[in-house]
Amino acid sequence: MKRQVLVSGIQPSGKLHIGNYLGALKNFVELQNSGKYDCFFFIADLHSITESFDPKKKQKQILELAADFLAAGLNPKKSTLFLQSLVPAHTELAWIFNTITPMGELERMTQYKDKSAKAEIVNAGLFTYPTLMAADILLYNTAAVPVGDDQLQHLELARTIVRKFNGRFGRIFTEPKGILTHTPRVMSLRDSSRKMSKSDPASCLFLDDSPEEIHDKVKRAVTDSGSEIKYDPKEKPGVSNLLGIYSAVTGRPMRDVEKEFAGNTYSHLKERVAFALAEHFREYRNKKAGLMVKSAALKSLLVSGSKKASKVAEKTLFAAKKKVGLSP
Ligand code: AMP
Ligand code: TRP
Repeated sequence: MKRQVLVSGIQPSGKLHIGNYLGALKNFVELQNSGKYDCFFFIADLHSITESFDPKKKQKQILELAADFLAAGLNPKKSTLFLQSLVPAHTELAWIFNTITPMGELERMTQYKDKSAKAEIVNAGLFTYPTLMAADILLYNTAAVPVGDDQLQHLELARTIVRKFNGRFGRIFTEPKGILTHTPRVMSLRDSSRKMSKSDPASCLFLDDSPEEIHDKVKRAVTDSGSEIKYDPKEKPGVSNLLGIYSAVTGRPMRDVEKEFAGNTYSHLKERVAFALAEHFREYRNKKAGLMVKSAALKSLLVSGSKKASKVAEKTLFAAKKKVGLSP
């Protein structure tokens, strides 16, 4: 039987934090290894240039994310790993989607509202970001999209685009569903009412952080009033965030984790969380260091993955253009 297709991407815009990891990348590896899906994972470089960036650093960020993918356990023998800008079908299909997407739908996107409020100049790419994301997904006849919860609204728009395109031009796309982890929204270490985000580096634990940095940051993480350790995101958001991180990296259910810490102090919890994180990322740190010196190999991996992806993407694009009446 043909396996269902799974697609997801991450932007190359700096170091990954544990929100990216626990909301997305760790799950990519587990889904890949489940053998249930035909997986496509890509580096969303075209999305990343919608925010201010340094062209001198972009190439390094791309290769670093490729190294992150591999160090975390993605495997080019099991999944197609590629670079978005090497598959031109993405931007071409996105253009067609732009023409069937009302401005109002894009104006409603929370990420657009947040990012445009902070940007000096709001570029058109930031506005049409979700139609490119819809193309990324729909080119592969995708059934499942693993993402953190901040991307669900974009995924919903992709589903709307499927209905709109199929209704107007004829059925070709199917509506994909999202796959969330138990930690779809890791919160900031400084303010437990906000998500961990690379736009606020002090809120983040990075995958590259040394054990000392991890201990130091976790020690300073905000906790809550009272002293009881229990999972209650409403009343105890800081403690619950740490418990969620601990449960995810140790692979133990929350019930067991709560039992382990019953009657303990916040500082004990922090010590255990920091220790678990430092251990969990030990192998990743070593592997990544080895990969970062092999930039030629990383590049050729992306080129060959992108060729594979292009074959699938171009077929879909051709079929879509035909439906619209563009291809002779
Ligand atoms: P980005 O770096 O924006 O490309 O995000 C890559 C992936 O990480 C996406 O699936 C996001 O939804 C996910 N993600 C980003 N921040 C968090 C967070 N704080 N908690 C959980 N997932 C997140
Ligand atoms: N917008 C996503 C993010 O910021 C990255 C992304 C781009 C993506 N295209 C995608 C994720 C397609 C899943 C599927 O995290």
